[in-house]
Amino acid sequence: MKTFDEYTVGNLVLKNRVVMPPMCMNMAHDGMATDFHYIHYGNAALGEVGLIIVEATGVTSGGRIKDRDLGLYRDDQIPGHQKIVELAKKYGSHIGVQLGHAGRKCLIEGETIVAPSPLAFSEDYFLPHALTEPELKDIVQAFQDAAVRALKAGYELIELHGAHGYLLHQFLSPLSNQRTDAYGGSRENRVRLLKEVTAAVKAVLPENFPLILRVSASDYVEGGIDLTEMVEIIQLVKEDFHMIHVSSGGLDVRQEITLYPGYQVRFSEEIRKICQIPTIAVGLITEIAHVEEILQNDRADLVALGRVLLRDPFVIIKEGHGHVSPLFAYKRGFNVNWARK
Ligand SMILES: Cc1cc2nc3c(=O)[nH]c(=O)nc-3n(C[C@H](O)[C@H](O)[C@H](O)COP(=O)(O)O)c2cc1C
Repeated sequence: MKTFDEYTVGNLVLKNRVVMPPMCMNMAHDGMATDFHYIHYGNAALGEVGLIIVEATGVTSGGRIKDRDLGLYRDDQIPGHQKIVELAKKYGSHIGVQLGHAGRKCLIEGETIVAPSPLAFSEDYFLPHALTEPELKDIVQAFQDAAVRALKAGYELIELHGAHGYLLHQFLSPLSNQRTDAYGGSRENRVRLLKEVTAAVKAVLPENFPLILRVSASDYVEGGIDLTEMVEIIQLVKEDFHMIHVSSGGLDVRQEITLYPGYQVRFSEEIRKICQIPTIAVGLITEIAHVEEILQNDRADLVALGRVLLRDPFVIIKEGHGHVSPLFAYKRGFNVNWARK
């Protein structure tokens, strides 16, 4: 099965094509990992996930979405991440982290809420302050500092969170970015912050260190980003990324999405084909047979399983038909077919 073939991204060789996508667990304290994270990500490794991408991790305190999110904005947050990384590697997974800034979707009382323009996400959210150019430089610096800390923690891959209506996405979309300076208006201007963040992060990464961008391929709202626009955005930044992790939505409460198994795969397929860049497909994919279909039909290079892995961290072993470490599966009491292909 292609699902269980190795895959090389940058300087990493993954043992299979299944990814755990970033999922905020709301279990951190003061941005620091807790026992929950060691068990949770350790379990994903025991479950034979090829690549774990740790949940959205704030590059500043106000860049977190909620106050129980992980952070990498202080040095004392490094050891917790280090322990997550050690456990995941020890039990056979490769592991990266998603670095993000929530922008206007930060829900933390007492933080300064920032965005490209003074437009609240909804009436349940704070009214953001429009970032000045010096403040934007601080945010770029915060991404770079967090990347340095991620390297110190031992992470093997970094994903920049450019999706789901968080800060980088807020700059990309004309719906949330109504600036008239060098960071708003034309596509080149809306992409500027992402380009600056990417350059700052890349500057501290070793050669061929895997860097991924997560995007929302559609805002699902008239006047926002659609697939055509996202393709053009990716064309402007693709040289800097090893892969694009293709999600959608999250920017505007007016979005209308029809959900069905694999509803975002078509975006991955198109971006992969048109932009000629490897992709990760994600979204309501719950079975290994579906993962295999996506890979065999060249619709993505890797496939992420989110909520199904929360419900059942051992779904890969159970549905892997003996293609995953048989000894491991046997020890865990699964009835596997010992004959590998
Ligand atoms: C509890 C939860 C937390 C999430 N947190 C993040 C996150 O931190 N960063 C992100 O990019 N996406 C996040 N997502 C979206 C997932 O990465 C994934 O794209 C989504 O769940 C769809 O995949 P699925 O249908 O396989 O669950 C989260 C989803 C869930 C269910």
